[in-house]
Amino acid sequence: MDTRQFEERKRDHIRHALDPSHQATGLSGLDRVHLFHEALPELDLVDVSLFAPCLLTKTLSTPFYIAGMTAGHAGANILNQLIAQVCEKRGWAMGVGSQRRDLESHAAYESDRAQLSEAKALRRSAPKLTLFGNLGISQVIAAVQSGPSGIDRIRQIVDELEAQALAVHVNALQEAIQPEGTPRFRGALSALEILCSKLGVPVVIKETGCGFSAPTLMRLNEVGLTALDVSGLGGTHWGRVEGARAQPDGLQATAARTFANWGESTADSVISARENLRGVEIWASGGVRSGLDAAKLIALGAHRVGYAQPALAAATAGAEVLDRWMEQQEFELKVALFCTGSATPQALREKVKSWTIQVH
Ligand SMILES: Cc1cc2nc3c(=O)[nH]c(=O)nc-3n(C[C@H](O)[C@H](O)[C@H](O)COP(=O)(O)O)c2cc1C
Repeated sequence: MDTRQFEERKRDHIRHALDPSHQATGLSGLDRVHLFHEALPELDLVDVSLFAPCLLTKTLSTPFYIAGMTAGHAGANILNQLIAQVCEKRGWAMGVGSQRRDLESHAAYESDRAQLSEAKALRRSAPKLTLFGNLGISQVIAAVQSGPSGIDRIRQIVDELEAQALAVHVNALQEAIQPEGTPRFRGALSALEILCSKLGVPVVIKETGCGFSAPTLMRLNEVGLTALDVSGLGGTHWGRVEGARAQPDGLQATAARTFANWGESTADSVISARENLRGVEIWASGGVRSGLDAAKLIALGAHRVGYAQPALAAATAGAEVLDRWMEQQEFELKVALFCTGSATPQALREKVKSWTIQVH
């Protein structure tokens, strides 16, 4: 792998993700979801708790996480440490961005330990944080097919981070449009199955903004996943981002315009996941832009709710801005719980079959 090109790409991604025209605004499906107002909640607002145990941890004081974004380039480490410290303080979980460079760079395991010590430094900066590692499915397929040493290397990068789980991202549209993409997904399901059985750490599968349809979800039931982050359509759109990076008017840039609204909305993905997944926890990200959006996704069946782009925008303005933005999400979720008569996120989720929610 060309390390300089990799770092440049990661910096491009941050720049383009912050451009509003690369957001699939209005397509999350959350406008179709109505939470019924409870005029007599039989609760005080102070009684509302965001405490949200899940399969990975019983200790987090909120159901929120910041989805994997930055890793593997100068600047990412400072941003990641800042995000990690505020997440730890507020009881949010956090994912790092793709650790592909750690996996593929031989140097990282032999002479140059710099990259790996970055993972250690991140963990040191937030020792109690619930943290997820991150790899792309194409890299997982290649590592698993290379035999036991490939799984050992994946385990090594998870261990360096002392991560509670490994998130494996699936991003077919992005890889197809990306000028340097690796659209190699053959063997994905069996590689995931082997990874889940051999890694020794929970595995979470995530999209990156195109969501999951019912037929895909059904195929994921027997794989051994702990959780699935739908990361649906409605927020950062990686077809659009990669189109902006591609040669203007070339095949990929033109296709990016054709596929600008491609994907399964976040709301529809969560509904499908609730109907089709068994024994796999549902997490929801992709176009989540308020605590009310989060409440709607919890009511639809999500156990955890994640933000990427808005958290990045806040973090680039500093720890105080990020902290304030996170407090805002928490407060809005509490208001939604209060106004639906739900003392906890779990109570709201359990009302899913009752009057609390209507999807148009
Ligand atoms: C700058 C940036 C970099 C990202 N890099 C990764 C990554 O390396 N691995 C991954 O799984 N997802 C990555 N994502 C995708 C997010 O985790 C998330 O799935 C997606 O952006 C949708 O959430 P959003 O609408 O809140 O941004 C990235 C997102 C952003 C904004």
